[in-house]
Formats: sequence, structure tokens, C-alpha cells
Amino acid sequence: MRRLLWAWTETQRDIPDVALKENETDPRVRTGISFREGARILYGPTMAVRCLLAGQVAVGTVRHGEGQLYIWEAAEPEQPEALRWVGLFDPIQRRLYWGAWNGGDGQPGGQCDPAHPHWSLYVGALLLAYDDAKNPDVAEIWPLLQEEWRERGCLGETAASRDALFVVNAFLWENRFFYLQDVSEVEPLPSSLPRHIRDRSQELVGRPVPFSWLTAPRKGMRMSAGDGGTASDGAAAGCAASSASPLTDGRYALAPDYPWPEDVRALIPNFRPDEVRLPSYLLELADMIRQTHHSRRPLRNLLFYGPPGSGKSTLAQLLAQLLQLPYYAVNLSLNVEEDVLLGKYVPGPEPGRFRFDEPPFVKAFRYGGLVELMELNFARPGVLGAAHSALETPYRLTLANGETVQRHPLCIVVATMNLALVGTQRLNEALKSRFQRKVYVPPMPRDELVEIVAAASGLENRELIARMADVVEKMQRRVEQEGLPGQVGTRELIDWAQDVRFTGDPVASAWKTVLPAAALEQRDIQEELAQVLVENVFGFAGDGDESTGVGHG
Ligand SMILES: Nc1ncnc2c1ncn2[C@@H]1O[C@H](COP(=O)(O)OP(=O)(O)O)[C@@H](O)[C@H]1O
Ligand SMILES: [Mg+2]
Repeated sequence: MRRLLWAWTETQRDIPDVALKENETDPRVRTGISFREGARILYGPTMAVRCLLAGQVAVGTVRHGEGQLYIWEAAEPEQPEALRWVGLFDPIQRRLYWGAWNGGDGQPGGQCDPAHPHWSLYVGALLLAYDDAKNPDVAEIWPLLQEEWRERGCLGETAASRDALFVVNAFLWENRFFYLQDVSEVEPLPSSLPRHIRDRSQELVGRPVPFSWLTAPRKGMRMSAGDGGTASDGAAAGCAASSASPLTDGRYALAPDYPWPEDVRALIPNFRPDEVRLPSYLLELADMIRQTHHSRRPLRNLLFYGPPGSGKSTLAQLLAQLLQLPYYAVNLSLNVEEDVLLGKYVPGPEPGRFRFDEPPFVKAFRYGGLVELMELNFARPGVLGAAHSALETPYRLTLANGETVQRHPLCIVVATMNLALVGTQRLNEALKSRFQRKVYVPPMPRDELVEIVAAASGLENRELIARMADVVEKMQRRVEQEGLPGQVGTRELIDWAQDVRFTGDPVASAWKTVLPAAALEQRDIQEELAQVLVENVFGFAGDGDESTGVGHG
């Protein structure tokens, strides 16, 4: 049976500070608000209006693809310190996420009670109504409500604010089909809440109302700069460990006010400080890049090398975020041609006509950005030749269409390469020397790896993750020693853990993740690896053995 959200908005409960008894004839509605035509006030939405004006709800928008999401965090009037309700509404998909949140370091949780939908569910409907460009009724009437609340601390004392409340209610009721209908369709909140929120509280509430998870220092996961870093750069690490993170506060931004076009700005990475490990040597590099930016020998070409899965590509993205540069990636591991660096002609929109296509490398080179040359040592010498002149004075690139492009001062090149992989070439000395810093990225320490996998996969059982990490490490060694064509590393471990979260069965999940990753084309090798490395540790699939200790946390 469908349970319509809007069928439950009447209630016999009072709405504090909303006291409209006039015209009310129906004894069920003690708040006494009624429409002249006989329609009743809606409890949920009216409560949302009241709490919003009272400053108990933070509201904002979050950029999402082409559009935006509405987000709000509501405090319960009677327990303002304890309980929070968080809602997230996607107006394009018309999808509502909602749940309770303890305002601290716990994960959001809680479900929509179908019998009594909570008033905070309707904040989204209100925001949608307020932003409705075609029907500005609510936006026009809103200042009246704000004013009454500001002056009297309640609603409904004056005829004007009574009328305004009626207008808002009538509008919401008439437009209820644009807001989620079925209570069962309310989705649980994502486990991590967005951090880049455009604040709308000033506009709607009349004063700033902060989101609690943006202001409170997060406990729970501890992954901050300096953890595991070898350098004891006390200053940088110490700063980063406090609540203001260099990832989000822009202290290493290379050109803070640079007018990137919107679509390019969207390429600046957006990691949350609590979901990544930020080694102190990366902060040091960011600082050097910033300090030498206007010097005669700016630091612009870096090489990150180390074992697969140690986090080189992630560090490149984190560096882009620290510097506040758009991030581009060029994968050289495939059998690519020069055109990944120099561009090529492709068929245009008109038949028989060609246009010149500029690849990501050229975009970064010409307009600025951090570009990662992934798996540099896989590239054929011919391709690398094209890179030489781009990396050194006079920093020019001659494109495939003959045009010569000058390197943008905000173009940073980070090459990454894996050590000890079959198919890699020895890096040519001349090219090697063009990278001004060659940074070794060591294998991830075990406890950090476990935290990263737990955060990325949602699997909470860290002891189990640690055992899975052992298996992956052994498998990685076999792959290397026997020259198997596959690759098993951190990414594959995360896939495995994510699958286990759903199956609860490490063996069954291994068959879909790490085993084919090691040797997709050779089932016999997969079978052998399964026996020797996986089943030995986790028992056989489907035997219902509780000893694997998989919890859904
Ligand atoms: N600093 C980090 N913080 C959080 N997760 C990381 C970090 N480094 C690596 N990871 C995780 O490990 C995975 C593999 O890292 P990646 O950067 O692709 O390694 P590499 O480029 O060295 O092969 C990533 O997908 C990411 O989930
Ligand atoms: Mg990589």
C-alpha cells in the first residue's frame, strides 16, 4: 500500500508559537488554522515554516551535476542540542533523503515513520516552493512572515501573517505532487554528508544558521596530515590536524581568485578532509609550488613513483585540490599515440567535415590545471618525445594541427609511475631529469590502509579488512612474481570489501573481485589462488560458517 506523505500532514498537535484560532470550526485541529474555503492548515509544513523562522533549521544548496540539491538540518524544538534531522532533496530526480543525526560523530541513521512523517520532511517542499520561478507566491509572501516572527516571536497575530501562512499552505498543498509522495520512497541519508554547501539561511531565516557538521571538529575517523608522514613538519601537520583543513581552506591556492569558467572549476577535486590521508610531504610540495610560482625557476613538473596502489594518483588529485587547480588525467598505460598529448582531427558535426580535438593534456597546458601523466613508464618513446619540449623552457607544445601553444603558468604536470610492473620501460634519462622533484610514495601503512578501505567500502569490520588486506598483499606478490597480466591492489581490496558488505561472504565476493583482477583470462589460476590464498583463510563459500565474523555494522 502506498502511504502518501501529504495525507498525514494534519495532526491534533499544537504548533508552538503559532496560535491561530480564528475561523476554526474543526475540533481536530487544535492549532485552529483554517482556510476560508474549509481546507485546513497542514501541520508538517507549518511546523517547517515556524522552525525555519525560529532559526532551528539550516538550509542550503549543494551543486550536483548540472543541477543542485537542497539540504537542510533541523533541530528538534524541545531537544535542540540532542537531535538533528537532515534532509536532502534532489528536485530533478524528485528524490528525498532523510534521517536522524546525533549532531556528533555518529553516522546518520533513523527512518521515516510512515504513521507520523516528521515535520522536517517538508522543509524541502518549502524550499522548492520558495525557489519556484514560475510561481513566485511563496517568495513574495515570505518577508511578511519573517517580519512578523522578528517582531513578535510568533506567527498569526496579525491578519497579514495569517494570510501569508494560508498562502504558503495552499501553495504547498496544490503543488504536493512535485514533492515526494510515498513515504516508503524516502531514502536513507548517504553515510557522509556534503561539505560544500551554499548557505541559504541568511536569505530564508534572516540570519546565518550553521550546519553542525561543518563547524564541529569531527571525531570518529582520524585521518589528517602528518599521520604516517615521515617528515616531522610540525607546523604544517599541526595546522592541518585542527578543524580547518588545508584541503578546504584554500591556504595553498596558487591563484585564489582565478576566474575559471564554471565547467572547468568543477574539475577542481573536492575531497573531504576526513575521507583522505594527507601526508605532510604533500603539504610541503604544495607550499614549494606556491612559493616558487613567481620565481625564475618555478616548480612545475613532479614525478610520483612507487608500488601500485600506494596512492600516487590520489596524491596528484589532492595536490590539485590544495593548489585549487582543475585536475586532468592522461592515461599512458594503454598503447596510446602522440595524439593524447598533441591532439588530433576528429569528424565534426557536419558530415565530411573534421574539427581539431584538444585532449585534456592540451587543455591543462593552454589554460592551466594540474595534469597527471599516468603510468609514464608505459608510454612508447615516440609519445614521450612529444612531452619533452612541454616540460622545459621555452615550454612550448606544437600541436598536431601545427599550432604552437605556450604553457600556461598555472599548468602543473605530475607524472606517476609504478615500480616493478611488467610492460614498463626504463625511463629515459633526459625525460627523468625534467621532473624537478621525484617523490617516492611508499606502500600504505597497514592501519591506514584498513581505515581507508573501511571508509571507502562501508565495511565496518576492521579485523576482517586486515585479513583481507593480507590476502591481497600475497596475491599481489604472486601476480608480480609470475608475471600475471592482472593487477591487485588497494582499489581491488576496496571492491572486495564493498562486495563483502553485501554478501557477508569473503570467498564468494573474492570470485567477483580480486580473483578475476589477478587473472581474468585464466580460470585455473583463479581456482588455485582461491584455494591457496582465500579459502584457506576464510573457509569455503556457502558453508554458513559464522567464524568469518562479517558484520553489517
Ligand atoms: N591518500 C589517500 N587517502 C585516501 N584514500 C587513498 C589515498 N591514497 C590512495 N587511496 C585509495 O587507494 C586507491 C588506490 O590509490 P591510487 O591513488 O589509485 O594508487 P596508485 O595511483 O599509486 O596506483 C584509491 O582508489 C583510493 O581509494
Ligand atoms: Mg595511479
